[in-house]
Amino acid sequence: MLLGDVFPNFEADSTFGRMKLHDFLRDSWGVLFSHPGDFTPVCTTELGRAAQLSPEFSKRNVKLMALSVDSLQEHHDWSKDIMAYNNTEPGSQFPFPIIADDRRELVEKLGMLDPEEKDHNGMPLSARCVFVIGPDKKLKLSILYPATTGRNFDEILRVIDSLQLTAHNRVATPVDWRPGNSVMVPPRIPETEAAMLFPAGVYTKDLPSGKKYLRYTPQPNTHQQRTTDGELETSHL
Ligand code: BEZ
Repeated sequence: MLLGDVFPNFEADSTFGRMKLHDFLRDSWGVLFSHPGDFTPVCTTELGRAAQLSPEFSKRNVKLMALSVDSLQEHHDWSKDIMAYNNTEPGSQFPFPIIADDRRELVEKLGMLDPEEKDHNGMPLSARCVFVIGPDKKLKLSILYPATTGRNFDEILRVIDSLQLTAHNRVATPVDWRPGNSVMVPPRIPETEAAMLFPAGVYTKDLPSGKKYLRYTPQPNTHQQRTTDGELETSHL
């Protein structure tokens, strides 16, 4: 899977019932993330954190989906442990689907297997993959972690904020950017056009090379941008 590829419209059983990816996503963004196995410590902390942050993902119009090579029954049983780990009210429902791939069809098709990490039968487990899928069903970002390193879901929210901002505005986000921080004017935008596109101002840092490529501008409104004619254009998700 390369960035920009249309994500396969797979069909699978999940704790929310049978699902077909593109129908499930409709016009939302999606995060599909795999984990090595149910009833394991790091995975429990990860899915617990993802469940806590699920309202933050919903606010951004993002649907979460977890996946591993375990069965549907194991996912149902394990999700009760995760909710207990989170100290949620007994009986409350796990907030997003966990996809069952015990026949290993999806992990193989989507390249999610970790050859270094094996189950008790010596079969490779799923790695900790993160795929962010846009409303156009195209792959926007992928990150791959080994089984022994748990993910940071605050970072996944941060990259989604950047992906959504840069999907609607001709800007790029610098290192450690957070919503509200200044953003960067990409090198391909000429100076005259930049002045038109970013009426809040463009600050260019002087550098020993004399090249004017380090250009900052205040973060624009996520869905609004000036065209080169100076019109304010609003894009819709
Ligand atoms: C875990 O989730 O704790 C884990 C799973 C597989 C290998 C190592 C750690």
